[in-house]
Amino acid sequence: MILRANEAAIAQAAQALFDGQLVGLPTETVYGLAANASDDGAVAKIFVAKGRPADHPLIVHVASAAQVPVFAAQVPDFAQALINAFWPGPLTLILPRQSGVAKASAGGQDSIGLRCPSHPVAQQLLQACADLGVLGVSAPSANRFGRVSPTSAAHVQSELGPDLLILDGGECDVGIESTIIDCTRGEPVLLRPGHITRAQIEAACGRTVLDKDAPQAALGQPAPRASGTLESHYAPRAKVRLMSAADIASKLQALGPHANNLGLWSAKRPATDEGFGSGVLWLEQATTAEQAAHDLFSVLRDLDARGVTQIWVQLPPDTPEWEGVRDRLQRAAA
Ligand code: TXA
Ligand code: MG
Repeated sequence: MILRANEAAIAQAAQALFDGQLVGLPTETVYGLAANASDDGAVAKIFVAKGRPADHPLIVHVASAAQVPVFAAQVPDFAQALINAFWPGPLTLILPRQSGVAKASAGGQDSIGLRCPSHPVAQQLLQACADLGVLGVSAPSANRFGRVSPTSAAHVQSELGPDLLILDGGECDVGIESTIIDCTRGEPVLLRPGHITRAQIEAACGRTVLDKDAPQAALGQPAPRASGTLESHYAPRAKVRLMSAADIASKLQALGPHANNLGLWSAKRPATDEGFGSGVLWLEQATTAEQAAHDLFSVLRDLDARGVTQIWVQLPPDTPEWEGVRDRLQRAAA
């Protein structure tokens, strides 16, 4: 059931979370599948609904930084600087977990992922939850495990069915999931690139951001399990292939009129003499990383829904601002 996110619907959703039920929740990045973070039974329903392995930890969403000490045992200075700079916003921090809280949500790990979303509906819902004593809301992306994250209420319903209460907060602005920084290893470690770039993180906290596979990052504890960081993820049904613009042009030409059930997401509409015909469904790829991130998951879904068997994607440039989009594309194609 999709409800337009007005005050009454938000109050109903907060009550549902308090009662141990699941709610589809809009955020500025993607839609989440929410449950009371402190209710292990409610959290277990998320894993069932998504088909996600129970040892993959979930992000806990909070109304403000004031809730951090409820869930995190300790906040290093550089993590506090990131909170000050980017919350509310699309940044998740992995911190040492306060023992005894949100154990199921953390997938049994002794760390916890915390994020304070900026979407006004998420903010209002988290505040309404806090007023009921629900201080954190666990929410992975509201898709079946391994599939494309939802960026609209209709996407959530098509993933998880008509029974789920979904707050409709419109299309997500950012379009790809939050940047995740692990703050448990002494230095900031990038677990998942996103809208907030490495350079912005470094500027805000004055530290070098390590890669998750860097030898320094491996010092201390082993890297935590993170499903958003699995090699194959975000997969539509159609097979995704990443190519340069030149490869797309020459391969289209080679196919000519035989191109069939082919989805194409590229910056330039192919010319007719490249074999562009009725068998090719072209969608325009934006030339800015922000707009392309916004469009990415809905383009994959849209082409899938139209029954293409292959999706050819022009691989964007290997420059810092495109890191998040390239990461999702590489995993959609894996
Ligand atoms: O933008 C987002 O972050 C969205 C919206 C709904 O907020 N949420 C999201 O959740 O992407 P999910 O579960 O699809 O991805 C969360 C990622 C996973 O890769 C998970 O393993 C990782 O965060 N994660 C959560 N807690 C963690 C922890 N304690 N240690 C390591 N990784 C953690
Ligand atoms: Mg996800």
